[in-house]
Amino acid sequence: MRSTDLPKLPSSEMTPESTYVDRRSFLIAAGVIGAGLAGAKALGASGLLGEMEQGEPQARGTPYGLQPDDRPTPYEDVTGYNNFYEFGTGKEDPKANSQAFRARPWTVKVDGLCEKPGDYALEDLLKPSKVEDRIYRMRCVEAWSMVIPWRGIPLKDVIDRAQPRASAKFVELTTLNDPRQMPGQRGLSFINWPYVEGLRLDEARNPLTLLATGVYGRDLPNQNGAPLRLVTPWKYGFKGVKSIVRIRFVETAPRTSWMVAAPSEYGFYANVNPAVDHPRWSQATERRIGEFRRRATLPFNGYADQVASLYSGMDLRRNY
Ligand code: MTE
Repeated sequence: MRSTDLPKLPSSEMTPESTYVDRRSFLIAAGVIGAGLAGAKALGASGLLGEMEQGEPQARGTPYGLQPDDRPTPYEDVTGYNNFYEFGTGKEDPKANSQAFRARPWTVKVDGLCEKPGDYALEDLLKPSKVEDRIYRMRCVEAWSMVIPWRGIPLKDVIDRAQPRASAKFVELTTLNDPRQMPGQRGLSFINWPYVEGLRLDEARNPLTLLATGVYGRDLPNQNGAPLRLVTPWKYGFKGVKSIVRIRFVETAPRTSWMVAAPSEYGFYANVNPAVDHPRWSQATERRIGEFRRRATLPFNGYADQVASLYSGMDLRRNY
């Protein structure tokens, strides 16, 4: 997200839309497009991590907040056009440089202001929850967007099991710090590693907030944040911290990596807001990866009904 990082065009962006639209069978039943949280029935959620089929990627799951003309972004773009600075700043670097990354075995520390802290093997952290497939919109602060079929569990499940104390007001989520495996942690100094993000506890408990373990019905590829990453579809994509090793309950707002790196450009809330431009990018419109025309950006990325009440009384002109 540095001004010197000019995104390269992946070859898939030069493919005319008509050549890929029919390439996959999108299992979105017309009737459930736009279905809200209540009553929406998962079309294909199944299995726990490690038991998933690894066949042809399928864009299946319950659509949340999709607009009528939203279609899942092709798998090749979701997994080939990435931001993961631990593996380089170019959009194709994460896929190229993360293939040897070891995402198993994996342990997540749950600690801070809670009654049930612990070090959990990933499988144990996930086991009590129902894994769901959900299709969400995703909007990056760099003014591009995708539609991504995620697989994961609600972060709320993990929070409830940890039993945060009344003094816990925020949750901090941290990426693995391992410069031997992550070349960007050796070479880039403008981010104070490890990558840290955070949410207010009520945001973290919102039913939309996912801890994702997969995309397109498969385990997360390394470049997408294997084996566990955050997804908050109403916020800019940089809130979606990848390869999480720690979930900590704290009293004050965590100092997130981008707030520390560029305090005049990034703030804590980072809710998608077409009315507030970033100093370097207008946020009024967005470029959907794989398409040519720009789209209007929606307040809260189209999820206002589910989340706007979290911010009543706040000055949303200052939400970076
Ligand atoms: N998490 C870590 N650890 N490091 C990163 O560089 N980039 C963020 C976010 N999570 C990033 C990260 C940004 S800027 C975006 S837009 C999303 O990941 C991109 O997710 P994707 O590559 O799966 O589309």
